[in-house]
Amino acid sequence: MKKLQAPRGTLDVLPPDARRRLEIVSIADEVLGRAGYEPMETPVFEDTEVFARGVGESTDIVQKEMFTFEDKAGRSLTLRPEQTAGISRAYIEHGMHKLAQPVKVWSAGPFFRHEAPQAGRFRQFTQIDAEAIGSDDPSLDAELILLLAEIYERAGTGATRLRLSSLGTPETRAGYLKELTRFLRAREDELSDEVRSRLGRNPLRAFDADHAGTQAVMKEAPLLIDRISAEDAEHFSDVRALLDSAGIVYVIDPTLVRGLDYYTRTVFEFESERLGAQAALGGGGRYDGLVEELGGPPTPGVGWAAGIERMLLAAEAGAAASAARVFVAIARPDAARDAFVLARRLREAGLRVETEQAGRSMKGQLKQAERIGAFATVILGDGIDVKDMQTGDQREAASIDDVLEMVQEAAPA
Ligand code: HAM
Repeated sequence: MKKLQAPRGTLDVLPPDARRRLEIVSIADEVLGRAGYEPMETPVFEDTEVFARGVGESTDIVQKEMFTFEDKAGRSLTLRPEQTAGISRAYIEHGMHKLAQPVKVWSAGPFFRHEAPQAGRFRQFTQIDAEAIGSDDPSLDAELILLLAEIYERAGTGATRLRLSSLGTPETRAGYLKELTRFLRAREDELSDEVRSRLGRNPLRAFDADHAGTQAVMKEAPLLIDRISAEDAEHFSDVRALLDSAGIVYVIDPTLVRGLDYYTRTVFEFESERLGAQAALGGGGRYDGLVEELGGPPTPGVGWAAGIERMLLAAEAGAAASAARVFVAIARPDAARDAFVLARRLREAGLRVETEQAGRSMKGQLKQAERIGAFATVILGDGIDVKDMQTGDQREAASIDDVLEMVQEAAPA
């Protein structure tokens, strides 16, 4: 009999992982709830047109990644690849523009994209999504970014990198895309085949290219952020001022390309160094034309989505790093007291530290360090040496602070 398995790119979530997911959702509920965001749900499948028109015909999501099927009456339906288009559809359908604006909502649930599965990338994944619809106030852009940063912090994802940019309006974007296409066409023979073949459809992709020739060309390419209108530039500087006053660190990245067409003005993405190739923990931006595109009144909106699987992967990587150990070895008989004091210092810095407490020989101590899985061994002999257990490198430290620095350098990410 055929062995039955979960479909490719999907996950069974077993205990205790299922509980961790609930915890993340309840962190989101608390953090977003305090800022006035209410839970909301939309169907897991929608009329295909919601995504074709909402996310955009030219995007990879719509072109290649949607799970689309026909129902028994021949209607084309699609498993939702993202949340914003569905929420905007519901906003229009239920006349939510008549409520006090902005309407602030959040949701958590499964999404579906037919992508090639790899670490951190699934065909069914879970997003927490937050949206504020009905106002273009820059404080909403900043508020949403801060709330997401707070959720990451509380979920223990570790340090994140925040990239920020502004895409202006669809008109400035269209003008810019023409300018960029002209620029790329003029230097076509320096570009990779892939970028050249997509030039007509998606010239922005050229900024993401790995190809060295293309990268060299892109260093001289015009940037959208230099072309946005004075009004959009002012909106962006208001968003930045609010983020600055909240003390959040970000980098302006004019090449930030998001995979969805509806964005206008602010776009952002959070990345984690603890993740591999799929480093995006979450992202979003403003979509001031989406509700109108789906048949509603002109209505601005802004929001983000964060992948729960990636948040958990980053948090687990951090837990593994903090579980990693340091061994303090005693290479001269009267160093036991120094070892005791040093271990305490290192523990104060948040490290898990064990010292020699069984009178082993130096060889036996190194074996013990390996046995406990130490990533670094501090050896107290005539001087203080730090041995990186991964590479085998051993160097002398000049001071206790130096020991701390060297140990932290050897620590797993
Ligand atoms: P997105 O950048 O396509 O944005 O997805 C947001 C997050 O969902 C990603 O950063 C990642 O953490 C997670 N994610 C996406 N695809 C996968 C996958 N195949 N496997 C695992 N995780 C994945 C959106 O979806 C927009 N709707 C965000 C938004 C809301 N913009 C405005 N409002």
